[in-house]
Amino acid sequence: MAILPIVQLGDPILRTPSIQVRHFDRKLGRLLDDLTDTMRDAPGVGLAANQVGRPDRVCVIEIEGRHLELVNPVLVRTHGTQTDLEGCLSVAGFYGPTARALDAVVTAQDRRGRPIRVSGHGFLARALQHELDHLEGLLYLDHLESLDALQRVGPDGELEDV
Ligand code: CO
Repeated sequence: MAILPIVQLGDPILRTPSIQVRHFDRKLGRLLDDLTDTMRDAPGVGLAANQVGRPDRVCVIEIEGRHLELVNPVLVRTHGTQTDLEGCLSVAGFYGPTARALDAVVTAQDRRGRPIRVSGHGFLARALQHELDHLEGLLYLDHLESLDALQRVGPDGELEDV
């Protein structure tokens, strides 16, 4: 397991749609382990593979005591709306008021290729949408009406990056 450097805004891989995973092998397991290590070290509560320079359609989330490994995730249902400050480990030091669905349902595969389904509400729903955006080459910045809405929050801020 390893802590990897997190790619920052401006690197083209953050704007590149991820590639479907087809091999559920030890290499995939190692990538998922490294993503979790890197996320926890940052610290953050979500991380997508392209944020560590990897093209694979994979992300991890750790919120409300749940550790999720999502391989080939698809957003299958959303409901309601919420707007709250959102931050990203690849846009260090900034937060923006980002509109998201209040509830989100995602289907994916686990590290062995078995189908899984995750229902999220509130912050978990926000994190699911944020990570799935990463895998499409999108950032929360793309949802802001204006970059003027960005705020800086110091290291003592209680906000968690995804
Ligand atoms: Co992010």
